[in-house]
Amino acid sequence: MSLNDDFQMQMKKKVEEIEAVLQEYLPRQKGYQSVIMEAMGYSLLAGGKRLRPMLMWETYRLFGGTSKAIRPFMAALEMIHTYSLVHDDLPAMDNDEYRRGRKTTHVVYGEDMGILAGDALLNYAFETAFQAFVTDPEESLMIGRALRVLGKKAGIYGMIGGQVIDVKETGHAVSKEILDTIYELKTAALIEAAMMIGAIIGGATEEEVRLTEQIAKYVGIAFQIQDDILDVTSTKEVLGKPIHSDEKNEKTTYVTLMGVEEAAGKVKELSDQAIDLLHQLTGENEYLEQLLIQLIHRDR
Ligand code: IPE
Ligand code: IPE
Ligand code: MG
Ligand code: MG
Ligand code: MG
Repeated sequence: MSLNDDFQMQMKKKVEEIEAVLQEYLPRQKGYQSVIMEAMGYSLLAGGKRLRPMLMWETYRLFGGTSKAIRPFMAALEMIHTYSLVHDDLPAMDNDEYRRGRKTTHVVYGEDMGILAGDALLNYAFETAFQAFVTDPEESLMIGRALRVLGKKAGIYGMIGGQVIDVKETGHAVSKEILDTIYELKTAALIEAAMMIGAIIGGATEEEVRLTEQIAKYVGIAFQIQDDILDVTSTKEVLGKPIHSDEKNEKTTYVTLMGVEEAAGKVKELSDQAIDLLHQLTGENEYLEQLLIQLIHRDR
């Protein structure tokens, strides 16, 4: 078996374990409002790559974490990420009708329930993260630190802030400086949350958490540039979402600024910087390093 086959097998197993955690924390369908629990499950349990909980977990392992409080945080972050996708696809935003290999939530449940399913996932993410205090009552200080990161990176100084600038800067030329800010916020912020929370619950020092944040920033920006590339080079079947969404919405991207080849060079450069920094951390996680390398060439 080649190294790559071995990695793919490990990855498949990890995705299954993450999905079991998601199942565990998803609310049961009950009450007159049960359609909302159904819509939450529809979007959350579709075929996502689960990159953010995976990065959180692997960073936690890198630091030798032992607290079970990591589990509700993994589920919470994937809920926040999923809500960001449900809202990103709405007619008022990117207006896309296909996601994670199925019809978008608002197409199936209507725009009203699409908006509410996003809201519900965001709120339930915090209800879930607060469960960490019950899971590991001894570690409330650490859990508090992780919650602050989760709140900030998802909000106006993080993902939401990035989506605001993305929407505002649609339909006209955008400078590289503004584009970098958009990527740092709309995409890198949740990847930073993933790795920083993994580090915090894993027992990292503040200095180590800062270095982890920087690694995740490089990973996150590279991830969004690759997403832009796939929007022009991939297929709907492989991606599980429509291609040419950026062109349709008149978005400036790394691809429109510098072309596919140079953009791919940027992905490689940023990923190399991330891996260099990763080597500065004490502790080792071969799988995490492989994951960062694989992301450079990902096709979905
Ligand atoms: C899509 O994220 C949105 C971006 C930030 C580019 P992913 O590519 O991680 O989507 P899923 O979770 O696998 O569906
Ligand atoms: C979205 O960027 C980032 C989010 C915070 C959802 P895109 O609009 O490029 O993401 P996709 O391509 O629809 O997944
Ligand atoms: Mg968008
Ligand atoms: Mg989009
Ligand atoms: Mg995209």
